[in-house]
Order: sequence, then structure tokens, then C-alpha cells
Amino acid sequence: MTKHTSEQLQNFLDIATEAALAAGAILQGYLGNLEAVEEKGRPGDLVTEADKNAEVAILDVLRRHLPHHSILAEESGQLGDTTSEYLWAIDPLDGTTNYAHQYPFFAVSIGLLIDGIPQVGAIFDPFHNELFRAAKGLGATRNRRPIGVSPTSQLSKSLLVTGFAYDRRETADNNYAEFCKLTHLTQGVRRSGAASLDLAHIACGRLDGYWERGLSPWDIAAGILLVEEAGGKVTSYDGSPLIISSGRILATNGKIHQELSTELLQISPLKGWV
Ligand code: IPD
Ligand code: CA
Ligand code: CA
Repeated sequence: MTKHTSEQLQNFLDIATEAALAAGAILQGYLGNLEAVEEKGRPGDLVTEADKNAEVAILDVLRRHLPHHSILAEESGQLGDTTSEYLWAIDPLDGTTNYAHQYPFFAVSIGLLIDGIPQVGAIFDPFHNELFRAAKGLGATRNRRPIGVSPTSQLSKSLLVTGFAYDRRETADNNYAEFCKLTHLTQGVRRSGAASLDLAHIACGRLDGYWERGLSPWDIAAGILLVEEAGGKVTSYDGSPLIISSGRILATNGKIHQELSTELLQISPLKGWV
């Protein structure tokens, strides 16, 4: 694996930031003025002209600065040299359902994987003007000030967040049982509707833990690094090293990780929903 200097990572982070801010301005421009909202396949899986144009803006920035890097973008798929050690995982609009309803919880998420490991991440929430950034070994920030995870050390005192993938009507593994049980065991479980921001909010201590299944690399690449650089922990549900392509993630402040993992592993699906 090639070792990168702080300067190189910082340079990639600045490029990610330029792209995230450009896309965020486009999202703000279309908010409340959407003309084209389409379903991509599954019911409720929406795409709008805001998603598409924000993605074009991100691709322009990346191609201008880093023409040899490979890209995995939600709306365009895999682009560029697939043998590159660099892979940019891009979600131009995370939280499209919220956005289409003008519910103000959505973000641009841009993560750079180097040899498969998240090393740079920028998440921009343009409605609240919050920019979350991280680079491996360089810490995590919110609007350029250092952030850290919460001190909550008991599951019973925690505030969690989760989400439900678009295939939830097709599988018994739909996260409904987990949501019920953890609502019962904690101070609350939120369903905010934007995985990248869920992770950013763990990183800055507003939430204590997050789990979800059915995710794509562009939803979580940037957020994984934010949580880790803010002092938190990110793994598979059972605590083993995260496999991004599994789509299943457990991210916490570290202190409630074991307790949350133990509960998640003991849950069986609710009957009657599929
Ligand atoms: C979705 C959001 C949501 C999560 C879904 C994702 P999109 O991304 O992150 O919180 O629960 O699984 O697909 O479609 O709004 O980019
Ligand atoms: Ca997404
Ligand atoms: Ca999206």
C-alpha cells in the first residue's frame, strides 16, 4: 500500500471540499424548485435534476484536478481507470427523499478510498451550512474546527440513528425488529434519512450510535473516516472489521459499541411484513 504524506491527503481533502461546496450550491438552488422527480426502480427510490447536476459538478472538479483517479458515483456508476489505487465514492445528494419533500436533512458526500480504505472525506450539509471533513491521521472537523464523539457510555442513555433501505418491502431483513428493540432499550432511535449525515452527527457527538444495512459505498465512505478520526469506532455488526461492500455498518462513539453489537446480534426479523 502506498503511504501518503499529510500534504498529499490535505490536497485531496481540499479537492473534495471544492467539489462538495460546488454541489451543495446546486442543491440549495433547486431546493423547492424541482421540476423532474423520477423513481429509479424501487418504489420511493427517487432521482431529481438536482442529484444529476450536483454529480456533474463534482465530476468536473475531480476530473480537472485528478484525471487518472477512478470514480464510483451514484448516478453515473463506475468511471475512469478501474486499476487505479484511488477510488472516489460520490453521493451528490444523500437524502433525496427528504430533499424532494423539502425536509431539510440532506448532504453531499465525497469519500476517497485508497487501496480500499477511506482516507479522505467531505460531507456538506448546504441547508445548515455545515461542512464536515476528515483525512486519515489528520482528525475530523466541522466548519474547520476539531470535533469528537460523545462521552455516553451506556446504551440505556444513548440516542441512536438508523435507516431503512429501499428494498425493505422485499426482505425480512428489513431492520424493523432492530428498530423496535433498540427504541425500547435506549433514549431514542432517529431515522433521519441521510446516512452520510448520520455518521457526521456521530462524529460531532450529537448522536451516540448508528447501524444500518443495504448501504452503498457512496453513502458511507466519507462518514466512516469522519467517525474514526473523531475517536469513534466503525465495524461490522459483530464487531469484526468493516467490509464496505457488505452494505452493513455499525458506527458508534466507541463506548457503547460492544453493548450495541451484542443487542444487534440477538435480534430476529419481525414476522408478517414480507
Ligand atoms: C439513502 C439515505 C438513507 C438510507 C438509504 C440510502 P439516498 O440515500 O442515505 O438515509 O437509509 O439506505 O439509500 O438514496 O437518499 O442517496
Ligand atoms: Ca445515499
Ligand atoms: Ca443519493
